[in-house]
Amino acid sequence: MTGVRWPIGSATVGGMSERVVRMNRAVWESASYKHVREYDDLLRQAQIGESLTSAELEILGPILRRRPAVVHLQSGHGLDDIALIKAGADRVIGVDYSSVAASAAARRARELKVPCAYVVAELPPAPLRDGCADLVYTGKGALIWMPDISAWANDATRLLARGGHLFVHEAHPMVPLYDWDPHVARIRSDRGYFNRSHVNDTFPAQGAVEWQWSIGEIITSIASAGLAIRELREHPEPFWRPDDVAAAAWDGRLPNTFSLLAQRP
Ligand SMILES: C[S@@+](CC[C@H](N)C(=O)[O-])C[C@H]1O[C@@H](n2cnc3c(N)ncnc32)[C@H](O)[C@@H]1O
Repeated sequence: MTGVRWPIGSATVGGMSERVVRMNRAVWESASYKHVREYDDLLRQAQIGESLTSAELEILGPILRRRPAVVHLQSGHGLDDIALIKAGADRVIGVDYSSVAASAAARRARELKVPCAYVVAELPPAPLRDGCADLVYTGKGALIWMPDISAWANDATRLLARGGHLFVHEAHPMVPLYDWDPHVARIRSDRGYFNRSHVNDTFPAQGAVEWQWSIGEIITSIASAGLAIRELREHPEPFWRPDDVAAAAWDGRLPNTFSLLAQRP
């Protein structure tokens, strides 16, 4: 599954992507028990409600002050949903294909009495009505699970009301290339920026396959879906630092995340 280039937006070859999505879903279902095992710790973090980065709060601040209805695609443990409510969102619907992740997130939302609800579904499409969101929020390890970036962008656009925003805060596509050497920032010899996919060896691991989308492909898919790009920022901070790892690639010289804001005209 590496090194092959398919036309932008289309990574379906002989049903291979469907098989990979099925396998990835099984891996996520199993890996998401982490959210159940760590429920109390995640609940504490959710109560603090500080999972959004300062860049996210800065870019989203003016939008969240208008109390948007939010759809969070690939909502995972849902901590960001509670932080979005704390920062002003009126309500959040999270969509994730892991029933384990969605039910842990729903339990947390009930316990904290926040207006967040969860739907279990494989994206795209989200089983939600056209134009239901003022803000579609996603990222932090979301786009890499999409075999067809154009289908994803079209569905995110469909969910937006006129004037609504799509916001993505995501790992920079360079990140899979960095090794975690603590002293020297190196490019892994087994990875390439222009490869199509690779096997995840961090989390959720277990053979899950990540698709690779370059910055150019991500922006082109969003613009082609009909959204106007309002802002793109690249950041040196990773969104995820596994315990006990301090890689030189995270020392501030390299891009580790990006934030993208686009708007439906
Ligand atoms: C790395 S997690 C990030 C989730 C979330 N943004 C967060 O910070 O918790 C990726 C999530 O995407 C979900 N996912 C992956 N592919 C999906 C798909 N095709 N449809 C729905 N959910 C998917 C997984 O179940 C997992 O919960």
